[in-house]
Amino acid sequence: MTTTTTIPSTDVRETPEVHADERATYAAARERSAVLDQLIDEQAARDPARFRVLSGDRPTGPLHVGHYVASLRNRVRLQDKGVDTFVLIADYQVITDRDVVGEIGDHVRELVIDYLAAGLDPERSTIFAHSAVPALNQLMLPFLSLTTEAELRRNPTVKEELALSDGRPLSGLLLTYPVHQAADILFCHARVVPVGRDQLPHLEQTRAIARRFNQRYAAGHSVFAEPEALLSDVPLLLGTDGAKMSKSRGNVINLRDSADETAARVRGARTDSHRRITFDPATRPEVANLLILAGLFLGEAPECIAERIGDGGARALKAVVTEAVNEGLREHRARRAELERDPGHVDQVLRQGNARANEMAERTLATVRAVMGMAY
Ligand code: TRP
Repeated sequence: MTTTTTIPSTDVRETPEVHADERATYAAARERSAVLDQLIDEQAARDPARFRVLSGDRPTGPLHVGHYVASLRNRVRLQDKGVDTFVLIADYQVITDRDVVGEIGDHVRELVIDYLAAGLDPERSTIFAHSAVPALNQLMLPFLSLTTEAELRRNPTVKEELALSDGRPLSGLLLTYPVHQAADILFCHARVVPVGRDQLPHLEQTRAIARRFNQRYAAGHSVFAEPEALLSDVPLLLGTDGAKMSKSRGNVINLRDSADETAARVRGARTDSHRRITFDPATRPEVANLLILAGLFLGEAPECIAERIGDGGARALKAVVTEAVNEGLREHRARRAELERDPGHVDQVLRQGNARANEMAERTLATVRAVMGMAY
């Protein structure tokens, strides 16, 4: 699952020049993100819509600790700064690359539970599923007219997903999902989009669509502002075996896991045979990953934690990690359990968010139709 957490897009592009290009874009986006973060600090409370944030997840399964430290906490932080936040459950995106929708309704409800448990407040944040917002989806038609097929085929994330698809034919929806994402972002005039590095090409596509729409259909008037990426500075977390987190590898700590399940997962984590614990990502990636994980929950640098553990070895390290994660998630998990007992409330939150998103999308679509001369 690609998520809004950072997934580095290494094998995405072929030539060294394009690699260099991607690195330069990423570096520039990092710098711009730092500036944005500061602007939000200074001005969001006064002018919430100016920094309206949209972020989203695909409802493909439970959220894990990586989502928590890289995206959930950040959304709550932005909300609490007074930014107007939209949180999208991208259910149509699940069917870009699979035939079976599976337990999608359950996944959607689980996401809502994690959002609420993490501290998103449905009065201040609009939590919605894009399949429930027809006017949002209709924006895809004018937006597709502003996008070329070549552009879509060049999109590195689309290419990567295609490469991962095991020879499965490319669906029209997978090819065009960057345009759908543009509709997700532009329907509510979001200005800030917290994303991982792999999503930067989509944001560029969105910016191009906004620009072209204004030029081609709105006589240069700014119907859509170009949104900006807000990149997280949280380092990429790996699974407990040091490989990329994946459900099928069983190397993931989910938010909904119990404290005991978490302890068992950490106990089984791969380490190495050096007794002294040091933070050395290049030569000791598994140990480093555990130190990063603990550090993110303790709000401490991994080096300091390593220092503290010293000669305690893997056992002491694992005890620290288990304690950090379980303590850091204790309240989240308690709220989760409460919400699970109240499915009516969860559904109500989603209905309310969907209604608000529909209002917004209908207004935007009305403007779009008007400027396009299609308001009959
Ligand atoms: N593609 C994103 C992911 O895989 C989810 C997503 C859908 C999204 N639409 C979006 C993210 C719009 C940001 C903005 O996680």
